Amino acid sequence: MSAARRPLVAGNWKMFKTGAEAVAYCEAFTPLIGTPAAEVALCPPFTALADTVRALEGSPVWVASQTVHDQVQGAHTGEVSAPMVLATGARGAIVGHSERRAAGESDAMVAARVRAALDHGLVVILCCGESLEQREAGQTESWLTGQIRAALGVVTREEQDRLVVAYEPIWAIGTGRTASPGQAQDACAHVRAVAAEFVDPEPLRVLYGGSVTPDNAAELFAQADVDGGLVGGASLDPAKFATVVAAAG
Ligand code: 13P
Repeated sequence: MSAARRPLVAGNWKMFKTGAEAVAYCEAFTPLIGTPAAEVALCPPFTALADTVRALEGSPVWVASQTVHDQVQGAHTGEVSAPMVLATGARGAIVGHSERRAAGESDAMVAARVRAALDHGLVVILCCGESLEQREAGQTESWLTGQIRAALGVVTREEQDRLVVAYEPIWAIGTGRTASPGQAQDACAHVRAVAAEFVDPEPLRVLYGGSVTPDNAAELFAQADVDGGLVGGASLDPAKFATVVAAAG
């Protein structure tokens, strides 16, 4: 964390929670966080976006989708466009999560989605991260460089206040095997350095994601280039997630 950047803690619910479950979560969660030092976002499934936005009215927590398509409308079964996400009251979108990249989203598709999201006024949480094989082969930095160059090549400096990057090593996602604070710091610093080719690196927030828990969050967020977290499993429980949010304070 740096005093120059307000930390962001975002909860990615993945394919969990109906609208009714999201509302119950928000009713429990907002009193627990009060007025947090960190910025807080929740990323429910598409079907719970509108309910979550309504349930968070009057709270500082904002809402983002977990992906967004690059076209406004068309024959794209199962996809949702940026204007559709905005119409729910959500303000942002995760783009390029590794779970979507594994299902076929290429760097080019990620770049197109980033572009479309920014064009329509969404905040983008762009994900990048290496596999265990790549890390063990010493390819972490070159892989991250490629992912960041591909996605940030379409971003202008004027738009960067609506851009957040999340470093999520694939081997740490949902595994309980968190990156060490040093590994998170090194990778986030590298992401920031590569991002400097396209945007001002100083105000850019770079998050860490991958088995963040109430127990390890404070140490991870204390790293100089880690500006908060993108949290999966630990964001599903309001009390756990509130503790993670407080760790970024
Ligand atoms: P976990 O926190 O469950 O490891 O998930 C991380 C993640 O993928 C957030 O986008």
